[in-house]
Amino acid sequence: MSKKHILFVCLGNICRSPAAEAVMVTKLKSSKLDHRYSCDSAGIIGFHAGAKADPRMRKQAQERGYSVTSLSRQVRPEVDFDKFDLIVAMDDQNVRDLTKLTRSDSDRMKIVKMTDFSSDSSYTVVPDPYYGTIADFDLVLDILEQSCDGLVNFLTTKN
Ligand code: 4NP
Repeated sequence: MSKKHILFVCLGNICRSPAAEAVMVTKLKSSKLDHRYSCDSAGIIGFHAGAKADPRMRKQAQERGYSVTSLSRQVRPEVDFDKFDLIVAMDDQNVRDLTKLTRSDSDRMKIVKMTDFSSDSSYTVVPDPYYGTIADFDLVLDILEQSCDGLVNFLTTKN
């Protein structure tokens, strides 16, 4: 079976989506699914392109055992909609922005929202922590852990 590719997307690709990528990579490894799925992340904006993830996110994630190592890059619609099988947005604005970049129904069908996979319906988006406190970064990680558990479950039951 060929490997499937998952892309996590937020606004800047320095807080939420690189953390989502790191959490999902860890969960895929512990579920022994890492040979079937690869993960990457990107931002709607390219402002932080080439930069490491926000140090607050790297630290809070490290405390939970996740290593956030990716460098920021902007979404490349002409490459990413072909390469990736699933494009996981962090909030509704990300979904709208990604949808504007699509070229076809087949592109549009790849876009999903991270929290749609969570069993906890208290949060319908992964909230942007950039101007927030450390507690906001921890909340992002709580939501990502729940949502990635659901995403792993979805991948194992639907694929
Ligand atoms: P992210 O957070 O979308 O979770 O990476 C942000 C990072 C940077 C900015 C906004 C949100 N920014 O405006 O530079």
